[in-house]
Formats: sequence, structure tokens, C-alpha cells
Amino acid sequence: MSSPMAADATKFLLSDLVSSHPKYVPSKYIRPVSDRPDLLNVETSNATIPVIDLQGLAGPNRSQVVEEIGLACQNDGFFQVRNHGIPMDVIEGMLHVAKEFFHLPESERLKSYSDDPKKTTRLSTSFNVKTEKVSNWRDYLRLHCYPLENFVDEWPYNPLHFRQAVGEYCKNVRELALKLLEAISESLGLEGGYMVKALGKQAQHMAINYYPPCPQPELTYGLPGHKDPNAITILLQDGVSGLQVLGNGKWVAVDPVPQTLVINIGDMMQVLSNDRFKSVLHRAIVNNTSQRISVPTFYCPSPDALIKPAEAVVGKEHPPNYRSFTYAEYYEKFWNQGLQSASCLDVFKVT
Ligand code: OGA
Ligand code: NI
Repeated sequence: MSSPMAADATKFLLSDLVSSHPKYVPSKYIRPVSDRPDLLNVETSNATIPVIDLQGLAGPNRSQVVEEIGLACQNDGFFQVRNHGIPMDVIEGMLHVAKEFFHLPESERLKSYSDDPKKTTRLSTSFNVKTEKVSNWRDYLRLHCYPLENFVDEWPYNPLHFRQAVGEYCKNVRELALKLLEAISESLGLEGGYMVKALGKQAQHMAINYYPPCPQPELTYGLPGHKDPNAITILLQDGVSGLQVLGNGKWVAVDPVPQTLVINIGDMMQVLSNDRFKSVLHRAIVNNTSQRISVPTFYCPSPDALIKPAEAVVGKEHPPNYRSFTYAEYYEKFWNQGLQSASCLDVFKVT
């Protein structure tokens, strides 16, 4: 049976806490019994998450692909894309430097450590170490990525190719995000540039998540169930499973498919679409054999952007479900509330 151990208080990062290969999960990572992943009760068929081929967006079948995207946003809140236009070597380069970064010596990694969420480049652990009661089995490097030239000089310079490889990936992901936002706008009957305009000056944030192997994955989460706060998320996963999405009341595993990326709707898109598109609960679980790296790109409004349901989707039969608010106002609530399944959108709802 498990005998909980206290965590080594001298370690800032989980990667260093587990470098001695503990047999048990330290007590601060153990969830109450009612809040554990129930790993045997997970749907493992991939069929429930649509896979959309983006190749057709550039040709005569555009309207068909736009419709597929709209249906996926409406019914699933999650989909996968292939032929997304990001070259394989750019993706491999991104994953390669991510792995190298998390295997640097502790002293080198700690140069980037900060628990101040206002910092635009920082390495941290769990989610919000200052407020949370139970920790998550994750370290993460968070980077602001757009406009690239404003931030790249603060990024780690070790490993050697980090800035070049991550910068290249960011530029490519932004192109993909713009393509998707255009298609999403059209699928709602809006003009192609609507969503990009609604996001103001736009922001692009990236997390590089590192989930070390976990001796007792049934007791903890990499990330517990949550909805993403931003507009859309583009997730790159290495070859290891861990992402799960809540669909029809059941957790569904979204196992990595080579050459595809996972896209999901965040809370801001739910508001902009006046609840036509749904921001859906998802979580990351861990396992006892393999480390896992995932790289979500959060495409966001700028902090001062005024978010409200698009006028063209509201009408007599669909009155606006939300009052207008700035992204900064919303984001502060998200961060302070911590990751939990309760939505931070409730306070902005028109009742
Ligand atoms: C996130 C997230 C999922 C994953 O970082 O918001 O949902 O698979 N990550 O790491
Ligand atoms: Ni998420």
C-alpha cells in the first residue's frame, strides 16, 4: 500500500524531486479519493474526436472543410488536424529542444524559475504554486511568443538551438492559428477576418509541459480537468498518451496520432460565438513508465480586447448570453481560481 512521503522542500521543480525515482507519490500530490482519475473508466477509442484534413481549405472544397470545422467546434469543442502546413522538421525541432531543456542540469534550468505569473518567460511547476492545495505532476516553461521579437531575447539560450527552434515553431503555429480563426469565423457566417479583429492586438502564449514518469498515476494528475481560458489552443504532443477530453459524460483518451495536432475551443471563443462553440473540459493524466512532453499554444486576445458575443450571431432568438468584458478582467479570475471544473465565465453571464 502507498505510504505517503513528504516532498523534499529543497526542490523547486518536480523533475528534480523525482530524480531519485521515489516509489511513492509525495503527499502533496495525492488527490482526495473523490477526485482521482479513475483510469479504468476511460474511453480509449479515438473515433470520437474528429480528424479534419486542412488541405482542402485552399481549394474548391473550402466550404466543406469550413463546415466540418464548424460542426467539430459545435459538437466536440475538440478536433485533430492533418495537413496543417507545419513542416515535420519544425515540429521535431520543437520537441527535441523541449526535451533537451528539461534534461539540463537543475542549476541551469533554475535560471528560468519564477512563481510570478506576470513574468512573460518563466519556468514553474504544477499550476499556481502560491494558491493551490494539491500539486500537479508537471513542470512547465511558459513563454510569450507574439510579437516574437518582443520576447525571444528573454527565452532560455540553453540548449543551444532553443530560441531558433522554438521561434520557428511559433511562427508556423501562428500561421495555422490565423487559418483556423478565418475558417471558424466563416463557419459562424461571419467575415473571414472577424475573429482576428475581435482578439485586438492578439497574443500567443506557449507552455512546454513536462510530465515525468509517476510511480502512482492513479493518485494524481498532470493537469486536472479544466477549460482553456484563451480563444483557441493548438496542442502538439510527443508520442506518449495522456490527454483526455470529457465527451458525453465520459473521459475519452486523445492518443497522439503522428502528423496531427489537436485543436480546442477556449472560453473566449465560447463567448464570441455566444455558446455556439463550446469550451470543453480536458485533463492530462500521467503514467509510470514514460515521461511526456506536450506543447500547447494558446492563441489569445490581447489583455485590453473587449470580448463579447459577435453581433451577427445574436438576434431575437439568440440574445447575448454574456456581457462584454476585457480579457484582462477574465484572466485574473481564471488564474486566481486555480484549475477546476467550475467555469470562470459564470460571472459574465447575462441572467
Ligand atoms: C493545457 C493542457 C494538455 C496536455 O496545458 O492547458 O490542457 O496534454 N494540456 O498536456
Ligand atoms: Ni488545457
